[in-house]
Amino acid sequence: MNGDGLVRSVKSVGSVRGLRALRSALLRRRADARDLPARGPERARVPGAVTGAEPGPGGGVVRFTRSALEVRVSGGGTVFWGWDGAGPEPSYALDGRAPEPDGRAALEPDKDGGWRVVSERMTVVISRHGAVEVRTPGGGVLRRELPPRWWEPVGGGRARWVQRSEVAADARFFGLGGRAAGPRLRDGSYRLWNTDPGGGFGPDDDPLYITMPVQLVVADAGTHLAFYDNTWDGRVLLREGEEGAGSGHDRPGGSELRMEGGPLRCWMVAGTPARVLAGWTTLTGAPALPPAWALGHQHARWGFGSEREVRRIVAGYTGRGLPLSALHLDIDHYDAHQVFTVDRSAFPDLPRLAEDLARDGVRLVSIVDPAVKAERGNAVYESGLAAGAFVKDAQGREVRGQVWPGECAYPDFTDPRTRAWWGGLYQERLDQGFAGVWHDMNEPVSFAPFGDATLPRSARHDLEGRGGDHREAHNVYGLTMARAGHEGLRELRSEERPFLFSRSGWAGMQRYGGTWSGDVSTGWPGLRASLALVLGLGLCGVPYSGPDVGGFTGSPSPELYLRWFQLGAWLPLFRTHAAKWAGRREPWEFGPAVLEGARAALAERRRLHPYFMTLAQLARLTGAPYARPLWWGAPGDRALRDCEDAFLLGDALLVAPVLERGADRRPVRLPRGRWYDTATGEVHEGPGQVLLPAPLSRIPVLARAGSVIPVQGEDGGLELEVWAPAAGHTGGGLLVRDAGDGWEHAAVERFSTRVVKGEVVVERTGAGADAEVGHPVRVRGVAP
Ligand code: NOJ
Repeated sequence: MNGDGLVRSVKSVGSVRGLRALRSALLRRRADARDLPARGPERARVPGAVTGAEPGPGGGVVRFTRSALEVRVSGGGTVFWGWDGAGPEPSYALDGRAPEPDGRAALEPDKDGGWRVVSERMTVVISRHGAVEVRTPGGGVLRRELPPRWWEPVGGGRARWVQRSEVAADARFFGLGGRAAGPRLRDGSYRLWNTDPGGGFGPDDDPLYITMPVQLVVADAGTHLAFYDNTWDGRVLLREGEEGAGSGHDRPGGSELRMEGGPLRCWMVAGTPARVLAGWTTLTGAPALPPAWALGHQHARWGFGSEREVRRIVAGYTGRGLPLSALHLDIDHYDAHQVFTVDRSAFPDLPRLAEDLARDGVRLVSIVDPAVKAERGNAVYESGLAAGAFVKDAQGREVRGQVWPGECAYPDFTDPRTRAWWGGLYQERLDQGFAGVWHDMNEPVSFAPFGDATLPRSARHDLEGRGGDHREAHNVYGLTMARAGHEGLRELRSEERPFLFSRSGWAGMQRYGGTWSGDVSTGWPGLRASLALVLGLGLCGVPYSGPDVGGFTGSPSPELYLRWFQLGAWLPLFRTHAAKWAGRREPWEFGPAVLEGARAALAERRRLHPYFMTLAQLARLTGAPYARPLWWGAPGDRALRDCEDAFLLGDALLVAPVLERGADRRPVRLPRGRWYDTATGEVHEGPGQVLLPAPLSRIPVLARAGSVIPVQGEDGGLELEVWAPAAGHTGGGLLVRDAGDGWEHAAVERFSTRVVKGEVVVERTGAGADAEVGHPVRVRGVAP
C-alpha cells in the first residue's frame, strides 16, 4: 500500500468501513496462520551434473543427477523449456494448446558434455550443469539462464526457486505487465503480485494491478521475450549491464527471478520486435477486436449520481459540438454499491436513457465489480450460493472480504462452472441498455488497513479442477473474470463484439479485452506514468489501454488537463475519468483555451478513426500494439532505445506528448528517414533530435515520409492521406476496412507510394494489386 492508501486507511479506521476492514484483515491473517503450512527447514537443490539425454519432438529431455530439463523448439522462433517435469500445460496464458514442435530441430551433443538444439531461428545450448543459453543463428547470445536453484521443505512439498539470467551489457528491459516507472525498467526489484495501490499512484508505486512474468529485452544482438509461465507470487530483480565496466570488460545485464512456488518453465520468443510480438500473440491469443465506437472519446466519472447529471454531461458535449462515443457509469449507479443492480431513485429508467443517448451516438458502459454483497435476499448472492460459485476456505466456509457494498463473497472464476454462471449475469446489464463493461477491483480487493488488501492466501480455488489456493490463483483472478465476462457477452449477444476492459489481468488477458491505467495520480509524474503503462502493456501483448485523462485524483491545472487530453487522444482507450472527490474533468470546465485545444484533439481523433480501426485490426492480426516505443522498427538504435517520452502510433505517426509543465517546445528524437511535422509541414531528417514547437494548443505529431494513413474526409467518407516519399525512396501503408461491429472478415488493402517525375504515385499492392486504389487520395508534404 502506498502512503496515500495508508493514510486513508488509518483515517478510515474508526469509521464503520474502517473497523470492518480491520476485522476482515485480522480474519485473513488468522486464516492464513491456520491453513497455510508453516515454513520449516528447507533443503537447497541444483540440477547437478548431466547424466544423459533423450531426443523428442523439437528437442528432448536432458537428464541431470537431481533434475531433468525438457527443451522444445517450435516454429516462428519460439522455444519452451521446463525443469522437473514441467510441460507447457496447463497454462492460463496459452491460447489453447501449446504450438507444435519444430520437427526439424533435434537434440545433439555439444562440447564439454552439454547438449544443444539447433533450429532455423535460434540455437539452444544446455551446459552439463544446467545452464541454458539461447543464441541467434549468427552466434549472438540473447539470454543465458544459469542453473536454477530450488528450496524444498525437508518433509516434502512445494518448492521455492530462483532463476538467474544474463543478457547483453547493452540490453534494456521492458514489460513485466503494467509498471508506472517504465517503459524502460531500470535497476530495481519488481514484485509479481497484482495489487491495488490503494489510492492515486505515481511512478514510484510498484506493483500495480497487472503484473506478468514477461520480460521484453532489446539488445544489439536481437530482441527477445522471456515468459516464465507461473502465476505465483514472486519478485524480479533487474540490473542493466554496463559496457566497458571495470577493467574494460562488459558487465552483462542480469535478471533474478524468485518465485514462491509453481513450475519453473519458460517460453522464449526471438526475432525483430514485430516478430516477437507476433510469436507472443500466437502463443497467448489474438487481442479482442473492439467495436468501432470504442475507439472514439469516452467520458467517465465516479459519482455522476443521477440520470439528470448524465444527461447534462452528454448535452455539454453535443451542445458544444464535441464528439463523444460512450459514457461510463461507476458504482454510484448501483443500488447500495451492489453489482448487477440499479439505484432506481437516481436512475429510474436506464434502458430509456440508453436509447436516448444512442440517438446522439453515445453508448453506455457499466462498471462491474466481482465482489457480491453477502446478504440473504440479494439475488446475485442467492444465485451464486445455489451455483456453489464463491471462494471457500480450507474448512469449506465461504471467504468474506470488505468492498464497497460491505461484507462480500467472491466468485471463484478459476472454476468453469462459476464462469458460466457469472457470464449469464451480464444479461441484466444488456437489458439495462449497456453496450460494454468495465471490470474493476478484480485483483481482487478486500479493504485492509495492513497487509495485502486481498483474499487470504489460504483461500481455496478450483483452478480448472486441479484445486489449489489463492497463492496460485491470485494473479489470474482478473484474467479469469475477464474470460467469464467475455464469454458471457459473446453468448448473450453473439452478433456484437464484446467491449470489455479490466483493471487487473495477466498474460493472455488481451484475448478478452483491454485495460486502463487505474487510479493514476493527478500531477505531471502521473501523466508520464500513463504513457509508461500503455507502452509497457503493449509490449506484453495488451494493445488496448489508456489512462484516466486528467488523472484519477485531485484537480489538474488547466494546462495539465489539456496535456493529458492531448496524450489520451493518441492512445487506444481515450477516456476522461476521476474519483468522486476529485475536480471536474469535462473539457469545458477549464476555460476557453483548453476547450479549443480539446476540441482540436477530439477532431483529430475523429479524423483518424479509420487509422485507429486499422491499427486495432492489425493488433488482432499481428500482435503489434497501436502505440509502440520509438525503437520498434530500429531496435539497434540505442538512442531510440532510451527514449521514453514519445511513441509511434502504428508505422506512420510519431507522437511527442508534452509531459512537462510550462513547455512550449520540446526535443523530439527521430528514427531514421524523413519526417513531416503534421501541423506545420516542416521537414525533418532522422536519425537525430529536433526541437519542435509545442504550443498549448497542440503537441508535436510527425508523419513518416511515404506513409499512407486512412482518415475520415470532410464529407465523412474514407480518404487516404499520403505523405510524400523523399526523392529516391518509396513508402506504403495499410487499410483494414472495418464494418464497425460484428465478425465479418475484414480485408487488408495494401498501398505503395513512390515519386515518378515529381508526382507522388499511389498503387495497390499485394492481393488486389490490379485493383484501383479505390479511395480519394490527398497528398501532403513538400514536392520532392
Ligand atoms: C477504483 C477504480 O480504479 C476507479 O476507476 C473507480 O472509479 C473506483 N474504483 C470506484 O468504482
